Amino acid sequence: MRQISRRDALIVGGLGTAATVAGAAGLWWSLTSPQQPAGVGGGAAPVQGAELRGPAELRSADGLLQLTLDAAPGGVELGGRRASALCYNGTVPGPTLRLRPGDELSVRLENGLTAPTNLHLHGMHVSPEADADNVFRTVLPGQGFDYRYRLPPDHPPGVYWYHPHHHGMVADQIFAGLFGAIIVEDPEAIPVSTERVLLVSDTTLDSAGNIAAVSPMERMAGREGELLLLNGQSNPLLTSAPGARERWRIINTCVARYARLRLDGQQLQLLGMDSGRSPEPETVDELLLAPGNRADLLVTAAAGEAVLQALRYDRGAMPGMMGRGPVRAGGASALATFRVIGSTAIPTDAVTPGAATSRPAQEDLRTAAVAARRQLVLSMGAGLRGGGGGMGGMMRFTINGREYSEARTDTTVTAGTVEEWALVNTSPMDHPFHLHVWPMQLIDDNGRAAGSVVMRDVVNVPANGRATVRIAFRDFSGRSVYHCHILDHEDLGMMGVIEVR
Ligand code: C2O
Ligand code: CU
Ligand code: CU
Repeated sequence: MRQISRRDALIVGGLGTAATVAGAAGLWWSLTSPQQPAGVGGGAAPVQGAELRGPAELRSADGLLQLTLDAAPGGVELGGRRASALCYNGTVPGPTLRLRPGDELSVRLENGLTAPTNLHLHGMHVSPEADADNVFRTVLPGQGFDYRYRLPPDHPPGVYWYHPHHHGMVADQIFAGLFGAIIVEDPEAIPVSTERVLLVSDTTLDSAGNIAAVSPMERMAGREGELLLLNGQSNPLLTSAPGARERWRIINTCVARYARLRLDGQQLQLLGMDSGRSPEPETVDELLLAPGNRADLLVTAAAGEAVLQALRYDRGAMPGMMGRGPVRAGGASALATFRVIGSTAIPTDAVTPGAATSRPAQEDLRTAAVAARRQLVLSMGAGLRGGGGGMGGMMRFTINGREYSEARTDTTVTAGTVEEWALVNTSPMDHPFHLHVWPMQLIDDNGRAAGSVVMRDVVNVPANGRATVRIAFRDFSGRSVYHCHILDHEDLGMMGVIEVR
């Protein structure tokens, strides 16, 4: 582990809070998602107000979507600045894949990077084996691999995403730009005036426009970039008309930042999160997306200009780190500007919001027979690994006391059964827990029992808190993983291997 350099200290300082003097033991690094500092990181202030761009869309036809994804370095514009990023097919975000339940997806991944990579379909209910969603596979630089996935005919419609999953490099590759959206279409389309795919990301550019390297400290805390972006843009403009009904598919692709979103003055109805559907569209005024979470949102436009704000979210504090001083009060970043203009209201169609949720009913696991109960303890502790660092060595990030090992199977599950998992967090910072392939039903959220069927593939386990989930291990068997979706923590070892057989 290298010493923390002055440059790293400046990057940390740039994260939004002033560093206090370190030296005494027991200093705390507060992990509050910072306000975006205007025009930091060298170069000019971000260009604001450009119309939102959407990623290119690729749609399945006759049950098949076949494409090539080229992962390679590329010059793109991020937040109005020229940047040398990592791209899928030359863009950040990569193309949006639109699929239907029952489809086959065939992806040729070409690795044009200088490091190994691979491909993961986050949240998708597909096989984890062989040439499907197999995160144990490595695609070396200069090589390619043909992934093939088959979606079950009853695959939940919703918002998903894809990103690399090569252990040890996941955070770096996503932070540099490798992510894209997947939409699984509804059986019957919901009538809307506009549908938007909105990928929230953050990154940090150095003065030359390269993706900034991060310090060991930032990895342990979970890095948060100086630039907060929507489809690679800084505060883009979304133009609409009064009465328009828009569908927003929002994905939090950030490595570690929680997106706490508000759009004051506009009517928001949540159709679902992750692969879960609300029984009725739920009127909301605030939305918290942990890293990896998605929201499927209906926005009914009211005349005026509203700011889509990312508010501070306090995800805890990390013991024994350089202090970062008190968090500034208030503060929110503008993620986008929603401008609703024109005096003539778009004729509102006759569809009531209730009709928007004619979806396949979800099974309720609260009444299911539970075959096994397990406890997974998420911990951080003073580490023996690394060592030699300026701040007393690297912390260990563990699940049930162990760091990730690809060779070891931590959890063996009988295929076809339902299990209940208690997720316990003994550390002073939040960990968003993610399981591949099989969605989790949230039963108890830190002492509050869920009042309805809440399906998630990322469940936030609050600092010194807990969550209980039930999982139906249906349809697929094989080896896969669960991990903290603060992807720096995953890369540092907060991941375990599950085998369903
Ligand atoms: Cu979004 Cu295992 O990852
Ligand atoms: Cu995943
Ligand atoms: Cu974590």
